[in-house]
Amino acid sequence: MADDLFSLENKVALVTGGNSGLGRDIALAFAQAGALVAIAGRRAERNAHVLASLGPAAAAFELNVADEGSVERALAGTVDQFGRIDILVNNAGIGQRASVMELDRDTWQYVIDTNLTGAFLCTKHAARHMKTQGAGKIINISSIYGVIAPSKGLQVAYTVAKHGVIGLTKVNAVELAPLNIQVNAIVPGWYFTEMTEELRGTAFEQSVVRRTPAGRWGDGRDIIGTCLYLASAASDYVSGAVITVDGGYTASDGLERN
Ligand SMILES: NC(=O)c1ccc[n+]([C@@H]2O[C@H](COP(=O)([O-])OP(=O)(O)OC[C@H]3O[C@@H](n4cnc5c(N)ncnc54)[C@H](OP(=O)(O)O)[C@@H]3O)[C@@H](O)[C@H]2O)c1
Repeated sequence: MADDLFSLENKVALVTGGNSGLGRDIALAFAQAGALVAIAGRRAERNAHVLASLGPAAAAFELNVADEGSVERALAGTVDQFGRIDILVNNAGIGQRASVMELDRDTWQYVIDTNLTGAFLCTKHAARHMKTQGAGKIINISSIYGVIAPSKGLQVAYTVAKHGVIGLTKVNAVELAPLNIQVNAIVPGWYFTEMTEELRGTAFEQSVVRRTPAGRWGDGRDIIGTCLYLASAASDYVSGAVITVDGGYTASDGLERN
């Protein structure tokens, strides 16, 4: 009965922001699990670089998630190339750091457009295909800042967008469940990627280690198990769930442990 619960054999997956960091790790894991994988991001040379490591049964598309025409083209390209889309990972994102008193409206809009509106647009166009297929899996990558706020504030638009991603997950889970489309969110803690690279070797890196019950930062391997679960038949009765993969960070009150 459990034989092929976690198999992604011949499933078609699109991973936004799949040319870097967590998205690349997710794309590679899906390919290893037997899926036909499309990655998509704005930088063509980064797309090509990751495509080369995905093997021949893969594709890469230039995509700006904040641009609906671009989203439609990437979804159509995936379906043209592979005949369907079974799994969408809304992973594309950018960070931001500014006081609420200094944050300009354009930056606010850019961060909301990328992290939240992008997930909405990709869901909108992927779900139309999934509806006609009679099944689908949508995985939204939120953040610990989708459930709590940074200790000094500052990441205003990012925190609002990531909270919004969890709302988007729940409302779409409810609407799409009768269509056999499951929508779930992942809340990663701290992982070293391009987004967080500047923190390596700083005092902040060590304060994350102390603050995290697991006593370390996450790496790509830590997130892929949850992605494989949410992408596979193992999670067919799971929708609207928010799964933290943060080494216990958000379970803790955050006080020093000694
Ligand atoms: N690293 C962490 O500790 C951490 C923690 C919690 C949540 N997250 C979330 O995890 C996701 C992946 O982040 P990461 O850490 O792997 O960062 P990353 O290495 O900087 O990757 C971000 C990816 O998003 C893509 N992207 C950015 N803007 C885009 C746009 N407008 N359209 C399409 N693609 C776009 C980038 O590709 P292009 O630049 O080529 O477009 C890149 O592939 C993000 O949603 C992030 O918020 C990360």
